Amino acid sequence: MKIKPISISLSPNVEKDDLFLAVRLFFSFLRKNYFSTKLEKEFSQYLKLKHSFSFNSGRSALMAILDSLELEKESIVLIQAFTCNAAVNPILWSGLKPGYVDCNKENFNIDIEDLKKKIDFYKSQNNPAKVLIVQHTFGLPVEMDEIVELCRKNELILIEDCAHALGAEYNNKKIGTFGKAAFFSFSRDKVISSVYGGMAVTNDDILAEKIKNYRKRIGYPSYFWEKQQLFHPILMSLIILPTYFVFGKYFLIILQSLKITSKAVHFKEKRGLKPGYFPKKLPGSLAALALNQFKKLEKLNCHRKKISDFYFKELGSLAAFELLPENNRKKSIFLRFPVKHKEAHRIIEKAWQKNLLIGDWYTKVIAPKDTRLEKLEYIEGSCPKAEQLASETFNLPTHINISEKQAGAIVDFIKSCEF
Ligand SMILES: Cc1ncc(COP(=O)(O)O)c(C=O)c1O
Repeated sequence: MKIKPISISLSPNVEKDDLFLAVRLFFSFLRKNYFSTKLEKEFSQYLKLKHSFSFNSGRSALMAILDSLELEKESIVLIQAFTCNAAVNPILWSGLKPGYVDCNKENFNIDIEDLKKKIDFYKSQNNPAKVLIVQHTFGLPVEMDEIVELCRKNELILIEDCAHALGAEYNNKKIGTFGKAAFFSFSRDKVISSVYGGMAVTNDDILAEKIKNYRKRIGYPSYFWEKQQLFHPILMSLIILPTYFVFGKYFLIILQSLKITSKAVHFKEKRGLKPGYFPKKLPGSLAALALNQFKKLEKLNCHRKKISDFYFKELGSLAAFELLPENNRKKSIFLRFPVKHKEAHRIIEKAWQKNLLIGDWYTKVIAPKDTRLEKLEYIEGSCPKAEQLASETFNLPTHINISEKQAGAIVDFIKSCEF
């Protein structure tokens, strides 16, 4: 009997060395700021940028950037729909307002035509948008030339949301280096992972000084929170995944409800509310985990590419399933492999029943699916393409623990779907 699931989000990046490191760090009580500083230095070198600041999440990093821009209260921050509440909430928590822009149905990124309309709309209301956040969805870079030019023309401050896209490039330049600032995520199912973690980056000295001061004002999360994160890869690798179909799956629910391990999104966030552990600094132990993963970035992304090539080869000829168009395939790092199908939600459900835990990014215009849209100030019907995409998209795992054989099992399942 198979007892280990094929999973997209249950600590997907963890290899043996990450596990051993997590165990060592779990039994140590030092703050180890050395690792945060080293991670920041290596990040700046990698991106060829001057300043990197680590935080305990992409959410905290975005809050730091927004706060440091010193905008007027309720300023409009443009952001695409077909995203996660974790990308929108920091706007609300910073006292600003999200202005939703529709999504391009071909590439899952911002719809540039709708962006132009929204810029004009807010201008016509005598309330011009101040900031644009672009999201490189699933690891596919946004067309930055056009975006940079639009921002310049309309005096918009550009922030890149690189949560899905560490290592991706646009015109031979690393994403995260095109705007005034950018942020990255190291959460459990991102390109590299320390369960929770993130980085704010900028080349702007004045902004950097403000982010630095912001970070001085916020504290570290509690030791309990830190241990909770370190526990995650340990329990996941040693108990939950190997026994998933016997008792692991129930054990995970118990651990999460007893708060022994964390959830990726707190229930409060689905209502636009902020849990107490944001914004916070990145504890040294989590920085050490992130650093260990960062050293393996090329390997992790090469594997993603290899598995994606396999999916393209196997699924390319199935008419009912729409894959990323040819012109975009070489550009993405494929954090996840997106697929469109009219019955995407039924496919996800059926796959989960068969213990193939494929991805549900994003089955709601602002995910996860029980997010209260009105609390995130999204008006239903305002971004129709994003809403349609949310009804037709599922995604497949590409991470380092997915073998070609397992990808083959997923392909066989998809081929058997007769919807
Ligand atoms: C597109 C996007 N932006 C931002 C974030 C926030 O990152 P973090 O989870 O590190 O706070 C996420 C995380 O889920 C995301 O998917």
